[in-house]
Amino acid sequence: MENTPNNHPPSSLLDDDAPIGNPAAERRQLLINTTTAFAVAGAACVAVPFLRTMSPSRATEALATVDINLAEVPLGSMKTFLWQGKPVFVWHRTPAQIATAKAQDATSTMQAQPDAERVQKPEWLVVLGICSHLGCVPMQGGKSDGWLCPCHGSQFDLSGRVTQGPAGKNLDVPPYQFLNETTIRVG
Ligand code: FES
Repeated sequence: MENTPNNHPPSSLLDDDAPIGNPAAERRQLLINTTTAFAVAGAACVAVPFLRTMSPSRATEALATVDINLAEVPLGSMKTFLWQGKPVFVWHRTPAQIATAKAQDATSTMQAQPDAERVQKPEWLVVLGICSHLGCVPMQGGKSDGWLCPCHGSQFDLSGRVTQGPAGKNLDVPPYQFLNETTIRVG
């Protein structure tokens, strides 16, 4: 069918470069543009639900933080909690352990950082239980009285500072805040 002024397709579907006055070329251009429009619409139909699944749900937001009851960690003990799938070490340090950690401020740590900068309250040390070498989970013990990494032997002190490699960095301190005297929120 020949295109006439009355049966021309809407101008928005025609490319500005489509040859004017060549019906075959105009039909070909119309076919291309219509196919493209359907492809874009189809992609949008797929993308919107997909993006909806990417937006944070309430469950995901809830997992973004974890509240830790410090009453579960008696004085002198350390307990591991999970935050976003990562181990968080919470150590309820004794006065003697705090004194030892402070005494080590000026000594053997490889990444110097005062103990006071790594804690909000001296009796509570909160660090991520992920070795800064290749990501193993350190165990309590070792010659620095803190943690020993079972993978390649790195040592960490009572403040989570590395005292022996191959790890080169201290255990990270995650973001956290005290909600009250007995609860912290990590994340
Ligand atoms: Fe800890 Fe290598 S992963 S020392």
